[in-house]
Amino acid sequence: MRDVNKVFPKGKKPLEKKIGVLTCYDYMFARILEEAGVDSILVGDTLGVVVQGHPSTLPVTLDEMIYHAKAVRRGAPNTFITVDLPFLSYQVSLEDGIRSAGKVMKESGCDAVKFEGGGPEILELIYKLERIGIPVMGHVGLTPQSVNVFGGHKIQGKAEEDRIRLLNEAKGISDAGAFSVVFELIPSILAGEISSSIPIPTIGIGAGPATDGQVLVLYDFLGLNKDFHPKFLKTYMDGRSGVFEAVKTYVKEVKEGIFPGPEHSH
Ligand code: KIV
Repeated sequence: MRDVNKVFPKGKKPLEKKIGVLTCYDYMFARILEEAGVDSILVGDTLGVVVQGHPSTLPVTLDEMIYHAKAVRRGAPNTFITVDLPFLSYQVSLEDGIRSAGKVMKESGCDAVKFEGGGPEILELIYKLERIGIPVMGHVGLTPQSVNVFGGHKIQGKAEEDRIRLLNEAKGISDAGAFSVVFELIPSILAGEISSSIPIPTIGIGAGPATDGQVLVLYDFLGLNKDFHPKFLKTYMDGRSGVFEAVKTYVKEVKEGIFPGPEHSH
């Protein structure tokens, strides 16, 4: 399903069914996600951390995002796919933001872009892209491209002034014409308050159950990362142990002449 109005219905809260989103970075996983019925895919710039091994999302380039987005599009041709604009591809000027978003749409064949923040320049960019015909997903709370300003991955919106700022940012994003907004690492009660005060679907990660949908980073969700266990993360399988044991068994069988057996030989 690639109809933005059906995947992310506006003004229909509470939604009949919540929206299940996962990140994805390659063709093979995209095929599985589509076949398993994920509502929507996010090609997140978290690929800088989980695929490329950087300590943050900051080094990711626009061309790298497009490379991964193209592979995901090939694997999930019928799923609504949003692509992150990476650090410094939209913050310098409105023109930069429009060109970056347009390049992603033209070259990846995906359906929408996402970028972080809720200040006046971001709202202007959302408004402009909507007018051009590029659907936008917003992202507030812990915005990882600003991790150096936050001083780490900390819960946002605890102080009264931050609470009000987040509320205003989310309202601004909705009013500017975004089809959805991600809330990352904010208290559940605040997420619920903001969610019920705007018409567009809200997608949470570390924001509790009151949002209209959830998103998780695919490799974290599969239990591949043994060093990452934040409270908000539920792992749906022990992927690391499965892969680890398979590799050990394979190497042992090759060494012992068990693989390939007659059934694997011509
Ligand atoms: O880059 C990403 O994967 C994201 C999600 C964590 C929402 O922005």
